[in-house]
Amino acid sequence: MLTMCGSNPLKSCLDETRRRHKMDEVRVGVIGIGNMGSSHCRQIAGGNIDGATLAAVCDIKPERLEWARENLDGEFKTFEDAAEMMASGLLDAVIIATPHYDHPPLAIKGFAEGLHVLTEKPAGVYTRQVKEMNEAAAESDRVFAIMFQQRTSAAYKKLKDLIDSGELGELLRIDWISTAWYRTQFYYDSGGWRATWEGEGGGVLMNQCPHDLDMMQWLFGMPERVRATCFYGKYHDIEVEDEVFATMEYPNGAIGTFKAGTGEAPGTRRLEVFCERGKLVMEGGLKLWRARTPVPEHLATCEQSFGKPECWECDIPVGRRGGSAHAEVLNRFVQAINGEGELVARGEDGLNGLALANAMLLSSWTDDAWVDLPLDDDLFYDKLQERIRASTGKTREVKDVVEDLSGSHN
Ligand SMILES: NC(=O)c1ccc[n+]([C@@H]2O[C@H](COP(=O)([O-])OP(=O)(O)OC[C@H]3O[C@@H](n4cnc5c(N)ncnc54)[C@H](O)[C@@H]3O)[C@@H](O)[C@H]2O)c1
Repeated sequence: MLTMCGSNPLKSCLDETRRRHKMDEVRVGVIGIGNMGSSHCRQIAGGNIDGATLAAVCDIKPERLEWARENLDGEFKTFEDAAEMMASGLLDAVIIATPHYDHPPLAIKGFAEGLHVLTEKPAGVYTRQVKEMNEAAAESDRVFAIMFQQRTSAAYKKLKDLIDSGELGELLRIDWISTAWYRTQFYYDSGGWRATWEGEGGGVLMNQCPHDLDMMQWLFGMPERVRATCFYGKYHDIEVEDEVFATMEYPNGAIGTFKAGTGEAPGTRRLEVFCERGKLVMEGGLKLWRARTPVPEHLATCEQSFGKPECWECDIPVGRRGGSAHAEVLNRFVQAINGEGELVARGEDGLNGLALANAMLLSSWTDDAWVDLPLDDDLFYDKLQERIRASTGKTREVKDVVEDLSGSHN
């Protein structure tokens, strides 16, 4: 007799099998063996992820499977069809490293097969699609993670710690410059999906900025409204945005600005945060100008016209993260599957940063008007479809290359 321990007896039995397998080794499959997927495969097959074994890889291009067979250690199966791989019974978990539009449908399929899922960033291209994925995750009891490896940065973690502790008082202004994402025309010409509305759904906001925008919502919460000017193909021969200037307004009245692009070298990565208790600057290291008296209080009570609050300049020690940020995300995914520790980022966390990116594009498509958050998911979707319909697609020759990504993540 089949014992029913959940609503879906087949899934419950699969779960039991996996628990018994328990997870001496979590059997991982990777979908998309391009730049990023190859790197994840190397980490797992190279033994850098404790408790994980590479059980299968999948790519629609046979030459990438050939690459995997020739370059990765261990025994694993190869598939050209992701659905077939996920239904094979060979896996406990799947990593999705395909172009962005496919992340939600593949994750939904993974959950339906009872697999734990780690998706690459961005969570998807439009919030409506990502909400469906998050619902599927919530209905399953599987671990759902997203590759926001910048959350492992010692400097960002210290910054979050300072903000959350209340040490700095209320947030009043944020200025973020993120132009250290320099990309060449060669990059945009590699891969037919890149830098088109139909293939990628955006440019710098969709590909590079998901890290920044996740960090922004992780550190400061969500703004109430956003407006942005986006420049489409300003530096490169592409149809999507390669430069963005955005303004955010937060519920307490604080204002943020965000500037990002892929056309400047050398680029800048600088975050300046002004709070009641002083100013923090993250650029390389982390520096705090700590006001002895909260600035709004000094401003209201000082009896000199040009007096300034006493400020102490401090270099904040941030420590160092040992090893690869991607490997840390993968290790903690595997640990979470085994019921140990916490994820670096929950898959569901991918929604907020994407909503910010969508809001910036929507603002630029509507005369740079303010866009209220939560976003009108359907309006964004409809406007994106207009872009896709008006697209001329890829007009340049596509160079099919896979690059070693070490050193390209900032
Ligand atoms: N976290 C990071 O630091 C980081 C860095 C780079 C890329 N990424 C993300 O990884 C994803 C892939 O980027 P990339 O640069 O590796 O792209 P890529 O073009 O180099 O690789 C994508 C691969 O997926 C394969 N593919 C496409 N559709 C597929 C499908 N349905 N089933 C199986 N295989 C399929 C392609 O053939 C290709 O080999 C993107 O979403 C990107 O944003 C993340």
